[in-house]
Parts: sequence; C-alpha cells; structure tokens
Amino acid sequence: MEAAAAKAPRQLPRARLAAAAPCPAVNGGCGVLVFFAALVAGAIVSACWMSASARLQVTPITPAATAIPTKARNAAKGPDPAPGPPRFAGVATSTNQTPHELLPPAPSPAGAAAPAPRECPAYFRWIHEDLRPWRDTGVTLDAVERARRYAPKFRITVVAGRLYVARYGRCFQTRDVFTQWGILQLLRRYPGRVPDLDLMFDCEDLPVVGAADQPPPLFRYCGSEATLDIPLPDWSFWGWPELNIKPWEALRREIEEGNAMASWTDRAPYAYWKGNPNVGAGRRFLLRCNASGERDWNARIYAQDWGKELRRGFRESDLSKQCTHRYKVYIEGRGWSVSEKYILACDSVALMVRPRFHDFFSRGLAPLRHYWPVRDRGAAMCRSIKFAVDWGNAHPDKAREIGRNASRFVREELAMGRVYDYMFHLLAEYARLLRYRPAVPPGAAEVTVESMARGRRGLERQFMMDTVVAADGGAVGEGPCRLPPPFSAQELEALRRERAEVVRQVEAWEDHSADTRRA
Ligand SMILES: *[C@@H]1O[C@H](CO)[C@@H](O)[C@H](O)[C@H]1NC(C)=O
Ligand SMILES: *[C@@H]1O[C@H](CO)[C@@H](O)[C@H](O)[C@H]1NC(C)=O
Repeated sequence: MEAAAAKAPRQLPRARLAAAAPCPAVNGGCGVLVFFAALVAGAIVSACWMSASARLQVTPITPAATAIPTKARNAAKGPDPAPGPPRFAGVATSTNQTPHELLPPAPSPAGAAAPAPRECPAYFRWIHEDLRPWRDTGVTLDAVERARRYAPKFRITVVAGRLYVARYGRCFQTRDVFTQWGILQLLRRYPGRVPDLDLMFDCEDLPVVGAADQPPPLFRYCGSEATLDIPLPDWSFWGWPELNIKPWEALRREIEEGNAMASWTDRAPYAYWKGNPNVGAGRRFLLRCNASGERDWNARIYAQDWGKELRRGFRESDLSKQCTHRYKVYIEGRGWSVSEKYILACDSVALMVRPRFHDFFSRGLAPLRHYWPVRDRGAAMCRSIKFAVDWGNAHPDKAREIGRNASRFVREELAMGRVYDYMFHLLAEYARLLRYRPAVPPGAAEVTVESMARGRRGLERQFMMDTVVAADGGAVGEGPCRLPPPFSAQELEALRRERAEVVRQVEAWEDHSADTRRA
C-alpha cells in the first residue's frame, strides 16, 4: 500500500496543478484555486508519508508518555509540601546516595499485557537516511576516530548502560552540558535498552562532513543536503539557561496555554520576528522587510538587544508571550535555529524562509500543511511575506488550519517522549552498525546525574531538576514507539519532488500577483 501511494505523486500533482494553471488572474482567484488543488494533491501524495501520523492520531499520545516524572517529583519532595526543594536535593552534599534511591520506582500495572508499541512519527524514517552512508560498510573504530579531523568537542561512549564522556574542546555556553544531560536522561528513561555505543559529537552550528569515499560518522545538532553530519536533538530541549529558555516540555505547555487565551483572529494580522539579526545574511535581508515609511511588507521585525536582554535576564524574550501575531517568520541563523519549535508551537502560520539546514524533526514538516514557504533572497523575501500575509488574512480558515497543523505536530510528534524515542532509535540503529565492541576510551570519565549537578546553581540546576528522569525510566512501563521502515528510493524521490513542487507553486502565485500589480 505504501509503495502504491508513493508512486501516485509522480503524475498527480503535475496534472492537477497544470489543470488549474490557465485560469485567468482575477484578484488572486487563480492562486486560491491552485492552492486548493495543491492541497488535494498534497493530501493524496503524502498519503504514504503521512500514514504514520494518521495512525498516531488514532492512538493519542498521553502526557504519561512524556518525560517529566511528575510522580517522582511529588514523591521526592517527601514530607516537605512546599514547592521549590530540588528533587535530588541530597545529590550535591551526599555522594553515597544516588538519585536512584531518592526517586521511587514507578508502579507497574501488574499482570497487564504489554500492548504493541505504536509507530513513531513519520519523520523517524530519516534516521535510516542519516545512517545510510554506513549501512553497507558498518562503522569501524577507525572511522569513528577519523572524525577527530573535524575537531569534535566530545566523545560519547555508552558501556553497560553507563555514560562516559571524553572532552576534546569547549562548547559555547552550556550546550555540551545539556546535550550530555539529555543522553543521560535517555539512559534512565529506557534502562538496559540503549546498547553500547561510541560516537563523536560536535556542538558547533554548521555541518561539515563532506561526502567522501569513507566519511566518518559525526553527530551534531543539524544537517544539510550537502553534508553527512547526523543530527541529534539540541540542548534546548533540556533548557537554555543563558537565555532563560525553559526545558521544552514545560515551555511547550506554557505556549499551548497561551494559545488558548489568544485566538488567531484576535492576533495582530502581521508577520512577526524577533531575534539576533547579526547572524546570517538572510536575517539582514529580513530587516529590510520591516514596515518603513514608504512600504508596508506586512512584517514587524524586531532586533533583540542582547546587551539589554542579558542585563534583564531575557525577560523581554519570554517565548510563551510571543504568540501575538497571526504569522511568525522562521529564519535560520548561522545554522538551523532552535527557535523553530517555539514558532511552530504558536498556532500562528509559520512563514518559513527557505532553510538550508535541517534538525532532526524539521524534515517531517510539509509546505502548506505545516508552514508557508518564503523565499530567501533580497526583496523577494519581503514580497513573499507580504503575499503570505495578504493571502492568509483573506483566507483565515485555511491559514488557521496550517497554524493548527503545526502546533499539533509539535504537540503530538515533538512531545518530549518522542524526542527521547528519536534519540533512542537513532543511537540504537547507529550502535547496530558498529563493527567493534565499544570500550571506555582513554581520557573519558563517567558522567552521572550527581556529577553533572554537582556545583551547579540557578537556572542550570533548576532545568536539570525539571528534566531529570526517574532512574527506573519514569515512563510507566511504556517502551519507545516502533521505528518505521526506511524510505524506498521512489518514496524519497516523490517526497522531495512533491515538496519542491508546492514551493514552486507558491512562488508562481507570488510572481503572478506581482505581475498583476505591475500591469
Ligand atoms: C521595525 O519597525 C518598528 C516599527 O516602526 C520598529 O519599532 C522596530 O524597531 C523596527 N525594527 C528594526 C529591526 O529596525
Ligand atoms: C492539516 O492536517 C490534517 C490532518 O493531518 C490534514 O487532513 C489537512 O489537510 C491539513 N491541512 C492542511 C492545510 O494541510
């Protein structure tokens, strides 16, 4: 069935789009028609791609599957009912008491037959693609060590469920700390299930591994079409203390609560962006789309004043209070941007400036289904934004649907439980490729919840406490979701072609509307 669905897209969208194309251009009426045609085509075309998510909707994800061990938190507070005391308060002072002992095991439903795990979101299929370069050769110790030529900042080794880290360099802020913390929580969430492994990790923004004869495997936060770096979830899922960005699960809920308070129609009918404009040429282009005296591109662009925000603890950058506009621009910085998930969570329409990089989940997003594609160059970017906003304001129901689909994606397919599942499957699949038995490398030290929490204060400590997973897994006996199969070559080709087609279609509407205006 999947194969059949995958073949369909080859002719369908073309035929439909072509059929819609000759309609006369009256007030953008053509664009609308074509849009619906594209939607229909998209629905059919993506049937295979979306089949996993469709199944997902049948079995809704329960909050219990997510990573915050509420039970553990409450229990660990012990007799003290006041909020605030850290869940592993004893850790820093007592070295013989492990968090394991502080956190009670979750009760397991006695005698309950384990249900078959549900299938993971469709974007998990990219795990197979990311590991494809090593599928036939496997990963040798030599290959792993050859990755040193790219100056990775640390090496992660898991042996018998314990985490060892060898440090080779420094990472910006606490990226490395919260990345390692995340892997540590994964080991606690699925105790005894993460196989032994050994990998090199770099915490710089840009992917660097070129397609060579024998590329070494290198993990980081993002990848691109042109490189072979393997993306793992970034540190911000466990929090970004320097910017006062809370761990994802908590922030996601806050944003969701905020969404319920501000309906789409009540939001400002413009495209909003706030961030650091000094990283990447695209962001400098974006500044020019700001409303000026002469021209209103429907964009409201704000440059973050880092000095001021730093002094004020980034209070004015509270992400849960940034869902005030109907449209939100996503634009990459130097590499991918962690802002993507916060923007998608908003219920606003994400106007996505054509990205060059992907993180682990963004390949699960489809144009006009989860976001509106925007051009990435010069004045065309401003025209794209203006067109998107005008279109959305004229078609509020369709626009809201795109916004809601994005926030549903984030809620269901990017809940913290799925993030852990992604890490689990990626690492397990990687471990299967290893052609040697991982051993603790020279210079590596064991990393534990205690060792990481030791001496940390303020938000760093707070975010760790907020995301620590009960040592028994805290996942109430639920294992990871089931990894969907690899794409066939045809499926992959169809998917790429279909998405490119939708983007080209949107660009054609823009050009058309610009032509009409000029005429
Ligand atoms: C964009 O325009 C608004 C309103 O005129 C202004 O407040 C804001 O500072 C401008 N943004 C930039 C980056 O100049
Ligand atoms: C939103 O998602 C639903 C369910 O996946 C889908 O049927 C619908 O076509 C999507 N809307 C758009 C605009 O793509």
